[in-house]
Amino acid sequence: MENKTKELLSGALKMIGQAKTKQELFAVNTKYLGKNGEISDLMRGLRDVSVEDRPRMGAILNECREEIDNTIREKTQQIENEELDEKLMNEKVDVTIPVKPKQLGTLHPLTQIQKLIMDFLVRKGFTVKSGTDIETDYYCFEALNVPKNHPARDAQDTFYINDDIVLRTHTSSTQIHTLESEEPPIKMVSTGSTYRVDEIDGTHAPFFHQLEIFVVDEKVSMADLKALLEEMVKFLFGEKTQIRLRPSYFPFTEPSAEVDATCPQCGGKGCSLCKGTGWIELLGCGMVNPKILKEHNIDTTKYAGYAAGMGLERIAMLRYGINDMREFFENDINLLKQFK
Ligand code: DAH
Repeated sequence: MENKTKELLSGALKMIGQAKTKQELFAVNTKYLGKNGEISDLMRGLRDVSVEDRPRMGAILNECREEIDNTIREKTQQIENEELDEKLMNEKVDVTIPVKPKQLGTLHPLTQIQKLIMDFLVRKGFTVKSGTDIETDYYCFEALNVPKNHPARDAQDTFYINDDIVLRTHTSSTQIHTLESEEPPIKMVSTGSTYRVDEIDGTHAPFFHQLEIFVVDEKVSMADLKALLEEMVKFLFGEKTQIRLRPSYFPFTEPSAEVDATCPQCGGKGCSLCKGTGWIELLGCGMVNPKILKEHNIDTTKYAGYAAGMGLERIAMLRYGINDMREFFENDINLLKQFK
């Protein structure tokens, strides 16, 4: 029996030595160490060994089983290491290969203009307010002192959802929301989409964007408004740009003005863009109509306000030299990618 055990051991070690895969090792394990394997067979044979020899034989068989078991484990480990090495070799990253440049998108020119002006105003202490595209007649018109018969309410101008709900025609509605939620001093800026029934051409579209400036505080005057607008226009179009205020009319401001800037294309000399006048109309503004402040219980002997509203497409067209408003929503990637 001792010889048989030796033979079995050397046979097993040989098989283990030749095994190349874990499956082969598993087969060796079953053949020798399994429940019906060869070691178990020999164990059963111990019955026929004399009582004196039985413990020694048992010990030999156990040692043999242990040696086979250990050798299988070692070999399994070795195969696993080799497999891992191979995997790592195959996965090796060549750090010298040049990286493909990532195609990064850019912000839409209107978003860039929005950000630019907002950042300018935030640096001046303005707080950003958001609004909603869908408004009630009250916020869009009534509360802004736009009377029922005002042409801005005309069904030809305004998208009515029903008699009371409209797509806002301007961002001025955010003035009213602000008055409802805040007390002076107020310094807010708001921007977003606005809508009017309009045919699409190079300078008109039924959807466009505006930015609203609204200030209510003690001792504010038209001079503050003008100073702010002048600084903003110079920031947008260059130090040499001049502005002028022309008297105008808006129901929610009194007095009201329209602001022109010297033409960014010709610097004021006169060109096709400014139709030879040297001036370009930029925005509407004025001192907040005290009627509106009183409606919100603001003491107009103490407080006054100014406001301004501008179309962002116009500003972006002037700043970037785009001469057709349709460019903003036709999504021509060749145009858009120029605005890094
Ligand atoms: N809401 C006006 C428009 O859409 C623009 C405007 C004019 C806004 C005067 C103002 C303002 O805040 O004071 O035409």
